Amino acid sequence: MQIKQILAEAAVGSEITVKGWVRTKRESKNVTFININDGSVIHNIQAVAEAGVLNEETQKLITTGACVAITGTLIESQGSGQKVELQVKSALVYGTADPEKYPLQPKKHSLEFLREIGHLRPRTNTFSAILRVRHTLAYAIHKYFNDNGFFYLHTPIITGSDAEGAGEMFRVTTLDPKNPPLNEDGSVNYKEDFFGRETNLTVSGQLEGELGAMALSKIYTFGPTFRAENSNTARHLAEFWMIEPEVAFYELEDNMALAEDFTKYVIRYALENCYDDLVFLEGRLKEEEKNKKQEERSELALIEKLKFVIDNEYVKLTYTEAIQILLSSKRHKEGKFQYPVAWGIDLQSEHERYLVEKHFKKPVILTNYPKDIKAFYMKLDEVSDDVPGQTVRAMDVLFPGIGEIIGGSQREDNYEKLAQRCQEVGIPIESIWWYLETRQFGTAPHAGFGIGFERLVMFVTGMTNIRDVIPFPRTPKTAEF
Ligand code: 4AD
Ligand code: MG
Repeated sequence: MQIKQILAEAAVGSEITVKGWVRTKRESKNVTFININDGSVIHNIQAVAEAGVLNEETQKLITTGACVAITGTLIESQGSGQKVELQVKSALVYGTADPEKYPLQPKKHSLEFLREIGHLRPRTNTFSAILRVRHTLAYAIHKYFNDNGFFYLHTPIITGSDAEGAGEMFRVTTLDPKNPPLNEDGSVNYKEDFFGRETNLTVSGQLEGELGAMALSKIYTFGPTFRAENSNTARHLAEFWMIEPEVAFYELEDNMALAEDFTKYVIRYALENCYDDLVFLEGRLKEEEKNKKQEERSELALIEKLKFVIDNEYVKLTYTEAIQILLSSKRHKEGKFQYPVAWGIDLQSEHERYLVEKHFKKPVILTNYPKDIKAFYMKLDEVSDDVPGQTVRAMDVLFPGIGEIIGGSQREDNYEKLAQRCQEVGIPIESIWWYLETRQFGTAPHAGFGIGFERLVMFVTGMTNIRDVIPFPRTPKTAEF
């Protein structure tokens, strides 16, 4: 029986077997206390063995990290700290863990150290809590979309297109790197490659997602995404999971409403279904922040912060308005932004954080960005006298402590305008003829967005490094586990 179920039912008097990994063992004169965890829940179960119940050999092999099956009677706990405990009758050791070598001793380990033992870190309280929250959020995402009439569309992982046009792709090839077939001009002849063309790992499922929306009306994707951007930050992974809803007949305003409703739903779902894990993670965050300066600490505790997001409307404003706020800020006037502020810049994370954490203190949806800093597929806005340049129907959702968590837009549905944009940014029209054809055959307004799953998990768990919310992080120069 899983420990989660044993603790929930607390069927005192029943005989049960617990299987899991020993967290601690403490021996006193007449009894041995063994704390076991099986990952089903943050709590351990305590097994109490009276002297003489276990033979000496078994007793010795039960050490921190060992895997055991312990059978006994569930009784009301004598000590404080737990309602029930297991009165041991017998024990079996599946696997020992030499205490001289087992790296996870019952003491505090740094997150950096735990990254070096990625194969064992799921056995810690912090990582098992994060992994349970991560699972619950994934489930909530599927539930939200399913309950709202969306279909889960499986877009390809190997593609021939660069959806974001940023060129940060991992190449997929079976050609011999030492001796590739060449064209007459000396370039590599990809016609001889596995797919007969250049291919790469997907940077986004959006373009294929749009094809789905133009038939099923409401779709979402949820899959791995790859970016070879060499940014070694606490918010970037080379392999991350992205969720991309795409909806026919939606305009930018509908897209914003969907983003807000969706994020609030999944955060609420985690609060309702992972409460014990979040209480644990809240305590962890408080401890971590003790080492920070007062002004760098969060104003709200983790659970308060999650409730705050659910209970408050997101602020909505245009990029142009955001630039005005930044320009009139004290920080700008005192020259304290590292990067310059002017209409047309790509907002840096210091600018986003100023808006979200200092100015509004709430999640913010920024819209109508300059076209030159956004992808080719975004719908062009009407030109307006109040705005210095051409903008697009883009939206980014910014979260406190995270910065950009969502990027999305209404899509250009006019064939001529889209083809023109392709030309402007240098995308050969023949290379995405299939995408353009949706604008020639039954085009319709549509919109969608992408949310980085790990950034969402960071927000909900209060973790501050993205490497700590995915079981096996892929970042520049690391792919060990
Ligand atoms: O803003 P991005 O690049 O948007 C797209 O890919 C669109 N095709 C989405 C769409 O409209 N369907 O990425 C979307 C989100 C970002 O807001 C961020 O949360 C996350 O994906 N993201 C990353 N997360 C972790 N590591 C990286 N290297 C990321 N790059 C983007
Ligand atoms: Mg973006």
